[in-house]
Amino acid sequence: MDPSSIPAFLRPRVRLLDADTPLERMRRVEAAVGHDGLWVKRDDCMPLGLGGNKLRSLEFWMGEALEQGADIVLVAGQPASNQCRLTAAAAAKLGLDCLVLHNADEPQRDEGNLLLSRLMGASLRFLGPVDEDERARRVREAAEELRRQGRRPYIVGEPVTGALGYVVAALELHGQAERAGADLRHVVLPGSMGPTEAGFLFGCALLGRPFEVHLVSVEYAVPELLERITRIFEGLVARTGMAPAGDWREWTLAHDNQLGAGYAVPTEEALAALRTFARLEGLFLETTYTGKTFAGLLRLVRDGIIPASEAACCLHTGGVPALFAQPGAAEAGRS
Ligand SMILES: Cc1ncc(COP(=O)(O)O)c(C=O)c1O
Repeated sequence: MDPSSIPAFLRPRVRLLDADTPLERMRRVEAAVGHDGLWVKRDDCMPLGLGGNKLRSLEFWMGEALEQGADIVLVAGQPASNQCRLTAAAAAKLGLDCLVLHNADEPQRDEGNLLLSRLMGASLRFLGPVDEDERARRVREAAEELRRQGRRPYIVGEPVTGALGYVVAALELHGQAERAGADLRHVVLPGSMGPTEAGFLFGCALLGRPFEVHLVSVEYAVPELLERITRIFEGLVARTGMAPAGDWREWTLAHDNQLGAGYAVPTEEALAALRTFARLEGLFLETTYTGKTFAGLLRLVRDGIIPASEAACCLHTGGVPALFAQPGAAEAGRS
């Protein structure tokens, strides 16, 4: 499929990124691990709200919100949530109100993402430590209450809409790698709730599978991760009316060897990756998403699954503000 014809299917969209994010070579890491072409796609480098993967999704969530005439957006997550911080940023930029619902008790100190959400004027509500179903119910209830007050709420987070942002990212990376002469054969990205992964895979499928894609799970065992992605991928087919040929599972490998004790629990391997990329490249990772993903990249190279002669790119999905409130990060710097 002609890449230039694809974006027409991807709407409604409001632009929150004004340029492609950088694609950079990591020559000092290459030298350290004996590889000929390791690249990083810097989705941590976006001007708005300190950037990150969710800003690409927000181009489509906010596109829908504006099209529906919303005047307030609701978003839910943990106090450490990057999605909440970036929703607050997009709302500030677009002049919408923002209500953030956190499924935790109010922390004693504002730090990391929560501090930034407050600075950007979001209203924060703390639900206590409820599970995700209860959190979703409370978000719907809050939206209902706002409607009764005459407001026009939009709930951020529908996964198929959010995935559209990473269809765009796949096209962007593909074009950029060609212009840079990178001859990318592998792309490594985190595996979590699925919108980023499904969107990226859908974009790659439309392009005729330009890369082998490696998902480093940071949240679920492989079968559940793949099931989540499949559901969103099918949603993208229905939503866009585009049905890519072939089966993405044939060129996608999912790995759950970086999970450790589970989501958001730091591992020694991730902490070592934080040090390696900071010390060799001046690149910051955090322990929940990118630390485990970049540790996964190093393991794939070490194990020869990504051979030394085949260029690979790791997607940096952002989230660095979370580092300032993460357990284990300070100790990692001291060793
Ligand atoms: C920095 C970062 N990377 C990766 C992810 C995972 O993205 P997804 O939920 O689309 O799988 C998130 C999710 O919040 C994130 O904040």
